[in-house]
Amino acid sequence: MRIAVLNGPSLNLLGTREPAIYGHETLADIEARMRKVATELRVELEFAQRSGEGELVDVILALRGRAQGALINAGAYSHTSLAIRDAFAAAEVPFVELHLSNIFAREPERRHTVLASSAVGMLCGFGPIGYELALRGLVAKLGARG
Ligand code: DQA
Repeated sequence: MRIAVLNGPSLNLLGTREPAIYGHETLADIEARMRKVATELRVELEFAQRSGEGELVDVILALRGRAQGALINAGAYSHTSLAIRDAFAAAEVPFVELHLSNIFAREPERRHTVLASSAVGMLCGFGPIGYELALRGLVAKLGARG
């Protein structure tokens, strides 16, 4: 089983970006931990970080027929991007929406997501460990589908 782990704008700066909100771990730290979990779960991971909405759409469409699922922290696009939601539908890739922070405890404009209604699950507020939790949840869901 192949799972894509996608990150949107400014998440390449994790570790130094607003650490009081997003923590001190870098994206490379998170990816290294996920690789260990992937070995345990016997799944293959591929990672991508893009800052542009269209770039993320291209990455998602290229998953069609290749990946069985995806985790995405789309950053600020989560609150606005029908294009990203549509891309997952077009690619027929089930996905989990993920955020480091609890978006529902933040500014009003972050409390709405346009992705969650199409996601198989949504996880936020657990910081970097949320990536691992989301991976476990997605793989369990996909496994249950048979
Ligand atoms: C975020 C939350 C978003 O509102 C924000 O724009 C981000 C990061 C998170 O992981 O908590 O870039 O997705």
